[in-house]
Amino acid sequence: MNQFPSILEGIDDLNDDHINGLMTLAKKIKDKLINRSYSPFNNFSHEIIATSFLENSTRTKLSFAVAIQKLGAMYLDFNAEKSSMNKGESIEETLLTLYHQGVNLCILRTSITGQLKQFKENPPIKIINGGDGVNEHPTQALLDLFTFMELGLELEGKTVTIVGDCIHSRVGHSLCRLLPKFGMNIILCGPKNFLPEMAPKNTTLSNNLDEAIKSTDYLYLLRIQKERHSEDVKNKSEDDDYIKNFGVTSKKLKKWNRKIPIFHPGPCNLDVEISADLLRTNLYKGYEQVKNSIYMRMAIIEAILENGDQNIGKTTSN
Ligand code: CP
Repeated sequence: MNQFPSILEGIDDLNDDHINGLMTLAKKIKDKLINRSYSPFNNFSHEIIATSFLENSTRTKLSFAVAIQKLGAMYLDFNAEKSSMNKGESIEETLLTLYHQGVNLCILRTSITGQLKQFKENPPIKIINGGDGVNEHPTQALLDLFTFMELGLELEGKTVTIVGDCIHSRVGHSLCRLLPKFGMNIILCGPKNFLPEMAPKNTTLSNNLDEAIKSTDYLYLLRIQKERHSEDVKNKSEDDDYIKNFGVTSKKLKKWNRKIPIFHPGPCNLDVEISADLLRTNLYKGYEQVKNSIYMRMAIIEAILENGDQNIGKTTSN
């Protein structure tokens, strides 16, 4: 893929060719893995890839770990809490140290919004954003798009209602940048304190799910991110009110008389955003998202490792 970025911070780092190329590559990898005929398209056995998650994760971290090992690369998990960052070393020095130890790529999750921007001009190492504060989670949005495609869902002209904690969700922010490129409409729906004051480009806002559902083709539920809430937000988002007004339950689907595919990036707050029984129905696509995460993350790793960028890890200026 021509000029694939060495720092994948967000969706806007990718052009249409990159995005379409990732969809095609993920599909090829998936078909080969399912037919058990997969051997890495390239030889990655000399590549070393590290993950460093400075916030909790199950899905992203483990799916990258599986993807790295299926590609045949060496995998290191770097525990930042036990590293010299805890002694005051800057993240740039830590990343340069990894680079000079022979690590080719680092997947980083951080609580600091926009922390990767500083590395775009002079990358200390190739980096994939595994989620940064309330900014973006681009690999989740890409695997979600791939899942829509794999399920054979129409995209052009269809409406996805993203329900929940829209202002604190990096997944939501990446989806709002990605899905409109494929002609999809987005409704952001939630209590007022979870919605932006102004609708972002290509979206509309709603705080009435019963209304929004009338023009909804697909539902994408977001986790309430209590760890990011100020006291002000906390006081207004009691779980009981939330399930009543914005949670999706079997009972509500019956009332709406709709069979709508339901997506969730996980982890779910059960019986808050979604009733527990819905997770065991065909409408819930969360496990498809998890499965497809491996193929999409293998494709992203391949694209970034193969981008031919010679300008990594420079420590001297002219
Ligand atoms: N979807 C997602 O980012 O999940 P984790 O926090 O478990 O990685």
